[in-house]
Amino acid sequence: MSPEADAVTADAPAVQAASAASAASAASTASAASAAPAGSGDFVGADGSPTPRRGSPMFPDGTGPAADPAGSHHERRIRSFQPRRSRVSPSQADALRRLWPKWGLDIDGLARIDLDTFFDGLPVVLEIGFGMGEATAQMAAADPGTGILACDVHTPGQGNLLGLAERNGLSNIRVANGDAIILLREMLAPGSLAGLRVYFPDPWPKKRHHKRRLIQPEFVSLAGSRLAPGALVHCATDWEPYAEQMLEVLSAEPTLENLYPSFAPRPDFRPLTKFEGQGLDKGHVVHDLLFRRRAA
Ligand SMILES: C[S@@+](CC[C@H](N)C(=O)[O-])C[C@H]1O[C@@H](n2cnc3c(N)ncnc32)[C@H](O)[C@@H]1O
Repeated sequence: MSPEADAVTADAPAVQAASAASAASAASTASAASAAPAGSGDFVGADGSPTPRRGSPMFPDGTGPAADPAGSHHERRIRSFQPRRSRVSPSQADALRRLWPKWGLDIDGLARIDLDTFFDGLPVVLEIGFGMGEATAQMAAADPGTGILACDVHTPGQGNLLGLAERNGLSNIRVANGDAIILLREMLAPGSLAGLRVYFPDPWPKKRHHKRRLIQPEFVSLAGSRLAPGALVHCATDWEPYAEQMLEVLSAEPTLENLYPSFAPRPDFRPLTKFEGQGLDKGHVVHDLLFRRRAA
């Protein structure tokens, strides 16, 4: 059992499935989109209804994740990520084409996801910003009883993680493509998550970029509302000023309580991540933070 599932109190509400449109239909939406000709505006959803296409397909033949899944119908705002055009390797592209319809979810912000259906009833932990996904795959392998909804905008990483999941027989990973804030706000039901992981989020070290940092009061309040009572929030960073900001912001959120007087000792269950390794090579000190969602 995952530390998050462990931490969920016995009287916590069951993972909710309060969605109008199920994740299965969201996943089949991706699949149906795959069948649409490149550049087509509309396509027919799995249930036969016409569904508007948000964002253009990643690949010219219309397969894989969408390039900008939320399209322009969500307000432009300060983003915590830098849109990057990174090269997708042939094996990543192959994984994206084959596995996206089954395990991928475009964050279009159009409907709530039925996590119960999407994860076959497993408790679900959201990981925001998995990078290339090696640590995500290791945690999923160590804990097959927990579903990991792994969210990032980085296409090569999405392909890499899908490939890792397939090669290692991991059926408890789903990959969400797009902005985690839209996912939390529009697509996840209140109280539906058994945990939240944010490992080495972009530190945005320049002062004028601090507003781009993910861990801000508004984000933490939104995330707290999507967690079940007892759910764990686990953050880690190698950027000292950001660690202090995380501690301050998480401590100020009334729905959360710190499991430690200040920073947490590094838990055994968190593997070394790629960005953590790079930080350690530069002599940075790593801080973990472990908070728990209070009972309502
Ligand atoms: C510095 S990397 C860390 C990757 C990985 N956790 C590690 O430790 O190696 C941060 C990642 O967060 C992603 N990210 C940042 N803001 C995001 C958001 N709002 N939604 C989804 N992913 C986001 C970036 O694309 C990037 O891949």
